Amino acid sequence: MQTLAGKKILLGISGGIAAYKCAELTRRLIERGAEVQVVMTTAAKEFITPLTMQAVSGRPVSDSLLDPAAEASMGHIELAKWADLVLLAPATADLIARMSAGMGNDLLTTLVLATDSPVAVSPAMNQQMYRNIATQENIATLERRGMHIWGPAAGEQACGDVGPGRMLEPMQLVERCELFFADKPLKGKSVVITAGPTREAIDPVRYISNHSSGKMGFALAQAAAMQGAQVTLIAGPVALATPVGVERIDVDSAQSMHDAALAQATKHDIFIGCAAVADYRPQAVAEHKIKKTDESDQMTITMVKNPDIIASVAALNEHRPFTVGFAAETQDVEHYARTKLSKKNLDMICANDVSVEGQGFNSNNNAITLYWKDGKQSLTLASKQHIATQIVMTIAEKLEA
Ligand code: PMT
Repeated sequence: MQTLAGKKILLGISGGIAAYKCAELTRRLIERGAEVQVVMTTAAKEFITPLTMQAVSGRPVSDSLLDPAAEASMGHIELAKWADLVLLAPATADLIARMSAGMGNDLLTTLVLATDSPVAVSPAMNQQMYRNIATQENIATLERRGMHIWGPAAGEQACGDVGPGRMLEPMQLVERCELFFADKPLKGKSVVITAGPTREAIDPVRYISNHSSGKMGFALAQAAAMQGAQVTLIAGPVALATPVGVERIDVDSAQSMHDAALAQATKHDIFIGCAAVADYRPQAVAEHKIKKTDESDQMTITMVKNPDIIASVAALNEHRPFTVGFAAETQDVEHYARTKLSKKNLDMICANDVSVEGQGFNSNNNAITLYWKDGKQSLTLASKQHIATQIVMTIAEKLEA
């Protein structure tokens, strides 16, 4: 079946033993209707010849940034614009590190910098190199920037080691490409997501806030956009870049987040409340900086309740979106999460135990259990990008049902 008919795939091969599988990969992609342009690094040519790749792809292989003849036919910028998908397979630890650092010291890394097409990375390396913290951080960086990480698989390696680091098999990569180009589950849907903390002013220089970094909410925005949704992100004060294709509204206090959320909610199909909203705010904000006094060692601030944003959204009578909340708990997680699910009238709640080190607030990872009226699903510890994708896919399934 021509499942990839007319799709232009730029296959970037770097220097790993799995490069020999690229001939098979190219044949299978072409069999399904794709056009494949191969780009090789210098090291890749030690593992499989450009002549082989030219023969199976039916196109001359590009391998040099500084070759005037090659630039005269399809230059590197043109190549970067040509692709519907840039697939890097095998992607060695070195290639991943260079991309993570934003380098452009050969044709392949330059193309990655110059393209605004989606990039899929299929890591392939020795298991110890894969487990190395530098590699893990580099992969997480690429994922955070919106690249798709396909694999690796675990098993016996060419060097005799056993563990994670094997490139996905050619047919598995073909399936990933097919899935990538298939209709996205949230195509035609719109999502509004709240993320980050709120700040509740005490006086012009002080505020009450919490440890939310916004990472979980931003990962959700990115995952929803990648699954085809039109995404509006209402962000509290955080230092994060807006994911590609996402519309962002910056807010500060719980009240301003509430106003933005209610203005957006009825225009969207899905509402996800991931923000750590302050439950209370100071009753009065001092006009001037509150001065320290010699008279007393104590200061009392009277707090009043903030509006509950997600409960207000879930209570909408008309154009109510599918409403998903979060529950940040430190004990009796299921009990408190289920209580919030029913009290706030939510369709689903994502519960995280924020007392566990290495997950929750400000971490790059999280572990979540999703609860809905008559079911639950556990998502074990993984990067927030990975968890976000699973949450978004579950929401898509629930909307379909
Ligand atoms: O931002 P990160 O550093 O990545 O951390 C992620 C996170 C820990 C903040 C996130 O995973 C999370 O748990 N977010 C919800 C935090 C929270 O405020 O939980 P809660 O249990 O207090 O609130 C329950 C739900 O009500 C949440 O959907 C919250 O957004 C919402 N809420 C709460 C109070 C309020 N006034 N209005 C609300 O909408």
